[in-house]
Amino acid sequence: MNIELQWDIPEASPGLEALLDRVAGACFEAEGIENAAFAIRVTDDAGIRTLNREMRGVDSATDVLSFPTARFPAGKTARDCPKRLRREYDPYLGAVNLGDCVINYDRARRQAEEYGHPLRRELAYLTAHSAFHLMGYDHMNEEEKTAMREMEEKALGKLGITREGIDCDALFAQACEAMQMAYCPYSKFQVGACILAEDGRTFTGCNFENASYGAAICAERCAAGNAIVHGARRFAAIAVVGSTAVAWPCGICRQVLREFSDPSLPVIVGAYGKGYTVRTLGELLPEGLSPEDLGVTV
Ligand code: THU
Repeated sequence: MNIELQWDIPEASPGLEALLDRVAGACFEAEGIENAAFAIRVTDDAGIRTLNREMRGVDSATDVLSFPTARFPAGKTARDCPKRLRREYDPYLGAVNLGDCVINYDRARRQAEEYGHPLRRELAYLTAHSAFHLMGYDHMNEEEKTAMREMEEKALGKLGITREGIDCDALFAQACEAMQMAYCPYSKFQVGACILAEDGRTFTGCNFENASYGAAICAERCAAGNAIVHGARRFAAIAVVGSTAVAWPCGICRQVLREFSDPSLPVIVGAYGKGYTVRTLGELLPEGLSPEDLGVTV
């Protein structure tokens, strides 16, 4: 484990720990350090405002606060100071304790809305930002700011999380390719799908029909099965294409996608050669039954 996640507020985003753990791991890898860890406390406007006032004398509800255990000499970061890092080795953690990060969930939600991207991407960004603060990066001047931003992009880019967000064209192109493999002698309607998992991997699928018509499997569920068998559990986007018409996902597929995605999941849907439009899963499946409703965290 690269992080220890603590909730000050009721746990609101299932599966978040696995995502933030991968983000932290990618940050350590980008920096070139191993066997490190930090704590992430998720709080709200009121919680972070109190902390900000008490610890820094600033009375405002900021988005993220970082409390490093180690200070590094000017111009140096964690990778330059292995001895300093070793002093923070915590036998209980079995890792170098880099410190604490506090994330304001309320503010993250507002920022995600403002930028028009999923909340989980905003939380991933805030975690990476804090991780680099804990490793000695800062943004007091332009030079420092550029260096820090480059590291954040390097780490998040490895997980397929980019500043531009999701590459809809690339996902749609992969769905079109998968569509060519459809087995649909009955409907003759070929469908292809491509799921982007939260860890950056992509998984394709196509529809395959059956002489017993009801046994047909849609492209989306084929892609979901492909993702699941390769260990992916959280989806960041899906593209779906139909050969002769827009392949609007059926009700069962919408429900299956809800199991492994938030309602903010972008669904890129179109017809072959005719482009696509983007909806969220929440628009296609309002009030969908979720694993959280049954007390399950994916
Ligand atoms: N189909 C899909 O694969 N995905 C969709 O989004 C809509 C429908 C398939 C099922 C069946 O093989 C064919 O299209 C006609 O319904």
